[in-house]
Amino acid sequence: MDAREDVGTNPSTEPSIGELIARRYSRRGTLAGLFASAVGAGLTAGADPAQAAGPSSLTFREIERSYDETHHIPDGYELQVLLRWGDAVVPGAPAFDPHNMTAAAQATQFGYNNDYVDFQPLPQGSHASDRGLLVVNHEYTNTELMFAGVGIGRAAALKSTMAQAEVEVAAHGLTVAEIRQTGGTWSVVADSKFNRRITGTTPMTIVGPAAGHPLMRTNADPTGTTVLGTLANCAGGNTPWGTILTAEENFNAYFGGDLGNAPHADMYKRYGVAKDSLYSWSRHFDRFNVEKEPNEPYRFGWIVEFDPYDPASVPVKRTALGRFKHEGCTHAVAKDGRVAIYMGDDERFNYVYKFVTAGAWKPQDRAANRDLLNEGTLYVAQLTDDGKLAWLPLVHGQGPLTEANGFATQADVVIFARKAADLLKATPMDRPEDVEANPVNGRVYVILTNNTARKPEQVDRANPRANNAHGHIIELTNKDGDHAALEGTWSLFLAAGKPGVDPGSRYHRATSDSGWLSCPDNCAFDSKGRIMIATDGAPTAAGVADGLYLADTDGIGKALTKLLFQAPTGAEVCGPVVTPDDRTLFLAVQHPGEDKGSVFENPSTRWPDFKVDMPPRPAVVVITRKDGGVIGS
Ligand code: FEO
Ligand code: CA
Ligand code: CA
Repeated sequence: MDAREDVGTNPSTEPSIGELIARRYSRRGTLAGLFASAVGAGLTAGADPAQAAGPSSLTFREIERSYDETHHIPDGYELQVLLRWGDAVVPGAPAFDPHNMTAAAQATQFGYNNDYVDFQPLPQGSHASDRGLLVVNHEYTNTELMFAGVGIGRAAALKSTMAQAEVEVAAHGLTVAEIRQTGGTWSVVADSKFNRRITGTTPMTIVGPAAGHPLMRTNADPTGTTVLGTLANCAGGNTPWGTILTAEENFNAYFGGDLGNAPHADMYKRYGVAKDSLYSWSRHFDRFNVEKEPNEPYRFGWIVEFDPYDPASVPVKRTALGRFKHEGCTHAVAKDGRVAIYMGDDERFNYVYKFVTAGAWKPQDRAANRDLLNEGTLYVAQLTDDGKLAWLPLVHGQGPLTEANGFATQADVVIFARKAADLLKATPMDRPEDVEANPVNGRVYVILTNNTARKPEQVDRANPRANNAHGHIIELTNKDGDHAALEGTWSLFLAAGKPGVDPGSRYHRATSDSGWLSCPDNCAFDSKGRIMIATDGAPTAAGVADGLYLADTDGIGKALTKLLFQAPTGAEVCGPVVTPDDRTLFLAVQHPGEDKGSVFENPSTRWPDFKVDMPPRPAVVVITRKDGGVIGS
């Protein structure tokens, strides 16, 4: 959803690093040196017939690139559609009827636009690969594809009714569903006590430094400690103690109203709250109208933690982790048992963050970890042209984060984390999406999806291309491999785009014509540390369908991306995750048919049902090998 992800502004784009590079390096010298140190000889130009035969550990037969109404998988693989928009989740949910949707029905059925996917084994704490909880984010809704007769874009926002808006609110949030594999077939356990929907109206608590702050108080919540719902949940992560972290990203999109009468215009602007929302919600609900509830936008943009193993658990907004357009929130355990949470702020020229808990987690005492994420330090990344990485603390009273600069307390720092990071001179990146630690080599992968607004004078070594239409991926190495370290180094993993065509694109020399990618977004790793990269935006940027690509992260096949899955037209691919045995892959196919002017009555695809009268349906799919083997090899 590029349009919605780029609406905010960062006026302080901190170009000093770009200026530095101009002084210290030539462009050509920079890129050559960078890749030589980053990925070794395997990436240098020139054919090597011996390596071209197959240096990758991933032995699957790569699919041929195509771009049509349906999905594609390799020979020898099987795909099953597991959960579609409208499928029953909560026991007793009514059958899906896209022509008569109600909010009550939607609140018991699988929501819209599945993004993050997690698999949490059952029983809790086990490594089961045939039974678990599927946890899925429902990031946003497509009014034009959900309802007949509303039109598209801003017109749909102006035309859709309150009843339709209520369906949309209920289609947001998350799904928890127990799933099992029997005889190679996965299915939802229909009557499971774990099955749950969290929506845009589910009550949740606000904890941490911002709880109770005057900006967190509304007419409905004068204490500033409770809020209805979570919205714009893009990617996510989990904790070592088996809870889910879900990331509120483009929350600004839901708010509207006359900003001229709103009291916080400059802060709305930094976070992208704008008058002409693409949703009708500000017309129908006071809390989404900033003229009536100017503080409600401050209650979104957080990381939300909840326990999927306890269907009665109340989700908690953990404000210590900062407020921005959170893409994801993945964990890695430091050497002393403290927990690092890596997060991207997905907007042009925004930042990469990590939070390190004050205390160590307790593997033998699950309850003791319940509020571990309330105490700790939030850091923002600075990637300098000498290849060094510094994690800068966002702590009230330290450096420029003082009352004189508008930060009276730590609550101000976390509520306005973007402003605090600006002052610390964090490195503005090309839209940080997933940030995730490789479980084998310990390096942290930063997925940067694209940034066509970067000008030549804003180029630096960590964001090496102006008008970056295709994105790139960076590896961070914390000092001594310790996720609590405050310094380290960084290098480039790959630069996306079509090799030999798009300037600056760089891959392993053996990358095929189907294996290059554009607009990397979500990532995950298998137990061998091999990366899975899902893309979002490739149709617009490169004229190819979005897909899932697999690559080694070390050895002679490093950064040799291979295409395993291609999405139907209009869809992005999200949420790659594999079971602990690496034999089942779950993918979210989000917004199929969101292209070519598609509307409910005339969509560009009717994936996955392909039935007349059935609109396209976002769905989670399961991919396995026919012989039951490990995905990819
Ligand atoms: Fe919702 Fe940053 O993708
Ligand atoms: Ca994303
Ligand atoms: Ca996306």
